[in-house]
Amino acid sequence: MELHRHRPAFDQHAHEYANFADTSFSWLYIERPEMDYALKDLYKEDTRVLEIGCGSGRIVRHFMEKGIPPENITGIDVSEEILEEARQRTKPPVNYLKSDAQNMPFESESFNLVTANMVLHMLDDHQILNTMREINRVLEPKGTFFFICNNPYKDPNDTHIGEWVTRDTRWGDKMSVFQHDIGRLVSFTAPEYGFDLRYFGYPKVEQAGAQDPESYTEYTSKQYRVSALLVKTGEPR
Ligand SMILES: C[S@@+](CC[C@H](N)C(=O)[O-])C[C@H]1O[C@@H](n2cnc3c(N)ncnc32)[C@H](O)[C@@H]1O
Repeated sequence: MELHRHRPAFDQHAHEYANFADTSFSWLYIERPEMDYALKDLYKEDTRVLEIGCGSGRIVRHFMEKGIPPENITGIDVSEEILEEARQRTKPPVNYLKSDAQNMPFESESFNLVTANMVLHMLDDHQILNTMREINRVLEPKGTFFFICNNPYKDPNDTHIGEWVTRDTRWGDKMSVFQHDIGRLVSFTAPEYGFDLRYFGYPKVEQAGAQDPESYTEYTSKQYRVSALLVKTGEPR
């Protein structure tokens, strides 16, 4: 098994991805409003946040706009090319570093918030367990882990749960995504890894997205995303 099946896509198309990411429909009208709803109480000066799979840094910059000080924000990614895009686009700078979420170079209990937007479907079941163990370790007690990822149940007759599936990218090549059994992950696996599920949802498309009728029709036709907020309540069993 390759360690990072999807990485070539982000290495080779880092610049295109970065140009696309900040104004993508799903970010503006699904992920960003969902994140703001879930994390509004954590948009404050003493929040210390780790953004896992930070890509070109749109989430990091959003956190800065929402009042989290840059020195309290860290972004990690496995793609050096995409990190370079993030560094160029983020002023003032934050701590961006190359690291795999499965094995992170941080002291235990360094953060009170960990986020992963559109990343978990890039990890298989084994990698996701390593990652949850690491997130638990770097979070302080009662710290928050929030994620949004592809909804594996979007097409009920074509779920392939527990498998990699191939998707076309908008740059004309292919990318693998893993179809997690998300319900099981948040309800049964997360408690084994020391987390309590506080919120699970299928984020709605914001009405403002109707100004882009084509994307609005597409994204309201199915539930494209799932989101979950987990709180660290103990250690992995
Ligand atoms: C779709 S992008 C999302 C970027 C960012 N979270 C956002 O929403 O703009 C997913 C990112 O996850 C990174 N990634 C994938 N597997 C990873 C891993 N095991 N550890 C750290 N980053 C990873 C990829 O390199 C890619 O940049």
